[in-house]
Amino acid sequence: MKTQRIVEILKSGVVDSDLTVQGWVRTKRGNKNVAFIALNDGSCAANIQIVVDLAKIPEETLKSVTTGACLRVDGRLVASPASGQRVEVQAAAIEVYGTADPETYPLQKKGHSLEFLRDIAYLRPRTNTFGAVLRIRHAMAYAIHEYFNKNGFYYFHTPIITASDCEGAGAMFQVTTLDMNRPPRTEDGAIDYTEDFFGKPCNLTVSGQLEGELGALALGRIYTFGPTFRAENSNTPRHASEFWMIEPEAAFFDLEDNMELAEDFLKYLIRYALDNCMEDLEFMNKMWDPGLLERLRFVVENDFKRLDYTEGIEILKASGRKFEFPCDWGCDLQSEHERYLVEEHFKRPVILINYPKDIKAFYMKQNDDGRTVRGMDVLFPGIGEIIGGSEREADYGKLHARVRELGMNERELWWYLDTRRWGSAPHSGFGLGFDRLLIFVTGLTNIRDVQPFPRTPQHADF
Ligand code: 4AD
Ligand code: MG
Repeated sequence: MKTQRIVEILKSGVVDSDLTVQGWVRTKRGNKNVAFIALNDGSCAANIQIVVDLAKIPEETLKSVTTGACLRVDGRLVASPASGQRVEVQAAAIEVYGTADPETYPLQKKGHSLEFLRDIAYLRPRTNTFGAVLRIRHAMAYAIHEYFNKNGFYYFHTPIITASDCEGAGAMFQVTTLDMNRPPRTEDGAIDYTEDFFGKPCNLTVSGQLEGELGALALGRIYTFGPTFRAENSNTPRHASEFWMIEPEAAFFDLEDNMELAEDFLKYLIRYALDNCMEDLEFMNKMWDPGLLERLRFVVENDFKRLDYTEGIEILKASGRKFEFPCDWGCDLQSEHERYLVEEHFKRPVILINYPKDIKAFYMKQNDDGRTVRGMDVLFPGIGEIIGGSEREADYGKLHARVRELGMNERELWWYLDTRRWGSAPHSGFGLGFDRLLIFVTGLTNIRDVQPFPRTPQHADF
């Protein structure tokens, strides 16, 4: 490749050689003899310094070198006499690919609030912060595949369009090609879905788990990693309508194995970030969260606390804390409860298991006590739930009874129930919210700031 990226030039570019760099102008400063341009091409957080002898470059060209403009610079790489950089480029020629009018380009030099940047999400990848976040996001996605590949899990593609509702929460986006103004009707006036594209009501997936289980019961260990959709009207910093989820599913794993996997997996990913994204993590630590690096190291180095939901409730009740939502045995834990356990009581990530069956999904393995299931949530500092999972109910009779008890659509689930009729096996799995992991790893606090183009209620711009 003729073109070198700035990350490589800064690290290993040969001094006193000719080269070409291309990128976007971050700043330009100087005096009447020389100009200094800080150029960034997105390959790393650092800029490369371009030194321009004003006698050599036409004034017209230099005038259009403003913050945001895109340039090609041909020149010579030299050792930098100034501190702060190993090398710099002496420009011999500059071509301006695209100008950026200083009157209208929104990303001028001053620091911008994350809220402001959300309104211009189409440009924010060009900021230092989003450059760092998006590079870390990429590294985490890569590490996920690496981890599973090393551990014998196959990447399994589950459908995005589906007729089933895995979580039974009903918060689904419908997919239809019917004319919303004049939908076909059956004789009794209901919408006639036999006329719809798939011949029945369909929605965007809320989880690939049910199909993932089919994969695990054939390939042994699989994982999914794909977009997931929830139409819940939750305006919180941790909920998005479109997010990415990683769902490993493994045959012959019980709840213990599942916990082991979840902890090992999370630690692997965070360690990967520490080993491979240090420049960007240091930037985030400096700019947004001075405790970030310490917290990441702490999670990698310490065991997660494992405990029963029932014990968790006892701790919360004994805490003397006034929660916005009081909780008793049987209640679904709110983020404030989860964070109390993690941040104040145990001061480390917590894996909570054996939840009341009434607050968990139909597929979880039923415990002998008749009131709890082998569910498991991993709770993280600053976030609350980052993983939800369980050992699955492998017994046909028990699963079928639960589906009935909950009044679920048995006919839509026939294929899932069938897996328990032929060659059923103990198996377990979980879902990790990729974007919540990113919140944790970047030290930011809002899911809208770790996704390139967030979708939340009333927001689907760009
Ligand atoms: O706990 P959830 O709903 O579990 C499932 O969907 C299971 N089927 C997973 C499984 O066992 N295979 O979701 C799993 C994780 C949550 O812990 C959270 O991290 C994330 O997905 N998540 C969301 N992330 C962002 N925005 C939302 N609206 C989310 N809903 C869930
Ligand atoms: Mg959950």
